[in-house]
Amino acid sequence: MREELLSPNKEPIESEIEVGLRPKGLAEFVGQTELKGHLRVMLEAAREREQPADHFLFAGPPGLGKTTLAHIVAMEMGAELHVTSGPALERAGDLASILTKLEIGDVLFIDEIHRLARAVEEVLYPAMEDFELDIILGKGPAARSIRLDLPPFTLVGATTRTGLITGPLRDRFGLTARLDYYESEELQSIVQRTAGILEVDIDSDGATEIAKRSRGTPRIANRLLRQVRDFAQVEREGKVNGDVARDGLTFFGVDDIGLDKASRAILISLCEKFSGGPVGIKTLAISVSEPEDTVEDVYEPFLIQHGLLVRTPKGRVATPAAYKHLGLSVPSDKKQSLFDN
Ligand SMILES: Nc1ncnc2c1ncn2[C@@H]1O[C@H](COP(=O)(O)OP(=O)(O)OP(=O)(O)O)[C@@H](O)[C@H]1O
Ligand SMILES: [Mg+2]
Repeated sequence: MREELLSPNKEPIESEIEVGLRPKGLAEFVGQTELKGHLRVMLEAAREREQPADHFLFAGPPGLGKTTLAHIVAMEMGAELHVTSGPALERAGDLASILTKLEIGDVLFIDEIHRLARAVEEVLYPAMEDFELDIILGKGPAARSIRLDLPPFTLVGATTRTGLITGPLRDRFGLTARLDYYESEELQSIVQRTAGILEVDIDSDGATEIAKRSRGTPRIANRLLRQVRDFAQVEREGKVNGDVARDGLTFFGVDDIGLDKASRAILISLCEKFSGGPVGIKTLAISVSEPEDTVEDVYEPFLIQHGLLVRTPKGRVATPAAYKHLGLSVPSDKKQSLFDN
C-alpha cells in the first residue's frame, strides 16, 4: 500500500504480484546470511522451548525483504500473523484493540513502526516487555487505569528509518537487524527463482544482466524481470538471454548501473540546476516533483551507497562519480568540494 503512496510510477498491482513471489520459509529466503543465521537459531530455540519467539526489528531500504521476513517468522513458528502499520494506529485504543485480540504465540507485524504516535508507542512498551496492557477508563480526576494481561506474543517491526526509532522502543526488541543491499549473485538467484514461478524462459546471462541493474534490491529485480519478460514476448521471441535483457532494460529506461529515470532525474537536477549542490532535500525533491520522503527513502540510499551523492550538513552534494556517470565534465570546484564539508 505504502508503495502506491510512495511511487506513483509503479503499477499498483505490484503488491499483489509480490505476494505470490514471497519466499515461504527461511530456507527459500536468498542472501542476508548473517541475519538468517540469527533468526534460525532464535526461532528454533523458541520452538524447542514451546514459547513465542522474541521481538524482532527489521530495518533497511524498501524492497529488501522486511515484510517477507515478518511472514517467514510467523510461518516458521506456525503462528497466526496480524498486520498493521504505524500510521494506521492513530490512537492508543487502536493498538489496544489489536493487542486484546491476540492469542498466545501470535505474531503482530507493525510496518513503518517509526511512524507510531508517541501515545501509541507508550502502550507498546509494557505490552512488549511484560505482556501487559494499561487501559485508562474515564476522564479527568475520575479516570483510573486498569492493567490487563496479554497472551505472550511476538512483535515484528519494520522500518526504513532506524534513526527515527526511539531508544526505549529499540531496546525492547530481542534482535534488531539491518538488511543490506544484495550481491549480484544473490539477485541472480532471486531472478531465477522468480522466473521459475512466473514461467519465464531465461538463461543465466539474462538473469545476470537483470541482477546487475537491480540496485541491490529484490523488489526491483522482480520488477525488471517482468518488464524484460514483456519486452521479450512482444518485441522478440519470448526467450530472455543476455541481449534481450540488455535491450529490454534499455527500452524501459534502466541504465547500466540500474538507475531508472527518477533516480537519474535527481542526479541531473543536482548537477545541472544546483551546480552539484549543496542543496536542501526539500528543494531537490520539488525540483524533480517527487515527495521528499520518496527521495529520501527510495532513491537516495542507493545513490549514496553507490558513491554518487553525499549528505552533508549543508545539503545534498553530487560526487565527481555522479558527473562521470551522467557523461558530464566535473566542474573544477567540485573536485575539491567534498573535502570541505
Ligand atoms: N531474500 C529474498 N529472497 C527472495 N525474494 C525476496 C527476498 N527479499 C525480498 N524478496 C522479494 O522482494 C519483494 C519485496 O520484498 P518485501 O515486500 O519484503 O520488502 P520490504 O523490505 O518490506 O519493502 P518496503 O520497505 O517497501 O515495505 C517481495 O515480493 C519478495 O518476493
Ligand atoms: Mg514491507
